[in-house]
Amino acid sequence: MKLEVLADAEAVASAAADILAERARAGGHIALSGGSTPKRAYALAAERLEDWRGATLWLGDERHVPPADERSNARMVREELLARIPRAGAGQLEPVRTELDLDAAAADYEARLAAALGEGDGLDLALMGLGPDGHTASLFPGQPTLQERSRLAVGVPVAGMEPQVPRVTLTLPVFDAARDVVFLVAGADKARALERAFGEPPDPTAPAAHVRPASGRLLVLADEAAATRVRRK
Ligand code: 6PG
Repeated sequence: MKLEVLADAEAVASAAADILAERARAGGHIALSGGSTPKRAYALAAERLEDWRGATLWLGDERHVPPADERSNARMVREELLARIPRAGAGQLEPVRTELDLDAAAADYEARLAAALGEGDGLDLALMGLGPDGHTASLFPGQPTLQERSRLAVGVPVAGMEPQVPRVTLTLPVFDAARDVVFLVAGADKARALERAFGEPPDPTAPAAHVRPASGRLLVLADEAAATRVRRK
């Protein structure tokens, strides 16, 4: 694991945008996160690269709401990233089909991801957020989703997290098989979660503490405010 501490949220978004644009230029399968920290990274990444046609974008998690709903992660990615790219290809973003019921939407997403990745291959990049409670994607503390070892995507009933809607999330085996996993963590309200997820020793009750790519790289981009409890020289 590599922890990179940057000045502020803007610097975190900028570093993430560099990584995202570089990966998209090279082509491959990328899972994007919802949340406020990545949002700015997507807008900056759109400025860094014009031609995204080699990249296929997935969602690490999605709220089970219609595509036009303002809580939709796909809508956020469309608005912040795809709408700003002059040459976005059709099929650039693989949305969760939220018109299906929750379990069917998860099964459909899993089938499409498995077909796209092929046997034994993983995502090229997963961008992840971190919640103040240590959650990442829609893997929430104490939930059975953390024990999932075979499914690639599962439905998550309403979890007491804002927004209070069911979700579809990719699972730990997917994130742990990725070549690169990059966490974006900004703000003082994340300091405790960052320590629990990536401090020494990590706290297993924080879901993000279980994201440890088997052979891929794990990079944590944190701002000064979030890194106060883990800062290393
Ligand atoms: C979601 C996210 C979620 C998010 C974290 C951090 O759809 O809600 O994927 O896992 O990344 O909650 O979000 P912020 O960056 O907004 O704090």
